[in-house]
Amino acid sequence: MNVYEAATKRRTIRKFLQKPIPMEILMKLLNAARLAPSAGNLQPCEYVLVTDKALLDSVFSTLKWARYIAPEGTPKEGERPVAYVVVLVNTKKASEGGEIDCAAAVENMILTAWEEGIGSCWIASINRDRLREILSIPEYCKICFVVALGYRAEEPVIEEMSGDDVRYWKDEEGILHVPKRRLGDIVFMNCYGNKFIET
Ligand SMILES: Cc1cc2nc3c(=O)[nH]c(=O)nc-3n(C[C@H](O)[C@H](O)[C@H](O)COP(=O)(O)O)c2cc1C
Repeated sequence: MNVYEAATKRRTIRKFLQKPIPMEILMKLLNAARLAPSAGNLQPCEYVLVTDKALLDSVFSTLKWARYIAPEGTPKEGERPVAYVVVLVNTKKASEGGEIDCAAAVENMILTAWEEGIGSCWIASINRDRLREILSIPEYCKICFVVALGYRAEEPVIEEMSGDDVRYWKDEEGILHVPKRRLGDIVFMNCYGNKFIET
């Protein structure tokens, strides 16, 4: 799989097989995160990898899933992530910002995961106070994101968006449909508003 394929085929996954991810693959994802672009090369991102069964349940309880189709989009018992990566900014390395670095690191991680057959959900809706407590994260680290991971047990599809409705939905067969804005609606040639792709 090449980078373009991973970038275009990857979809957010919220149903996972209960099959552990080998540690060397998890380390590969984290290494891809480590080498992501970083403003000023400050590299403030740090990671807590969670695979312990009891902790998986605790971390799960701090997360909010799929706002447009809640509670249906929340992974059910037996379909939950088998690992999490909690993405932090160590403020001793970068006193402000760092969130954009985290986003670049997350994207590296989730594309590498996809290439390995592993699905992910990038999560920002987090009860950060509880998560900090559960994982003993020090105050000088900001909790940016959680990446939920596991082998894929669903195959969401994209839909060309018509109108302004960005809400994803599930059909009668439980397939997740994710609307995406058309290229012709978001790309302009030389000056804003100058469309050059037929929509
Ligand atoms: C910054 C960011 C935060 C997100 N937070 C959540 C979240 O808290 N819960 C969730 O279920 N999905 C979350 N998502 C996943 C989005 O819902 C998903 O990317 C979007 O529906 C598009 O689907 P796709 O990733 O398959 O293209 C987040 C994505 C991003 C980029």
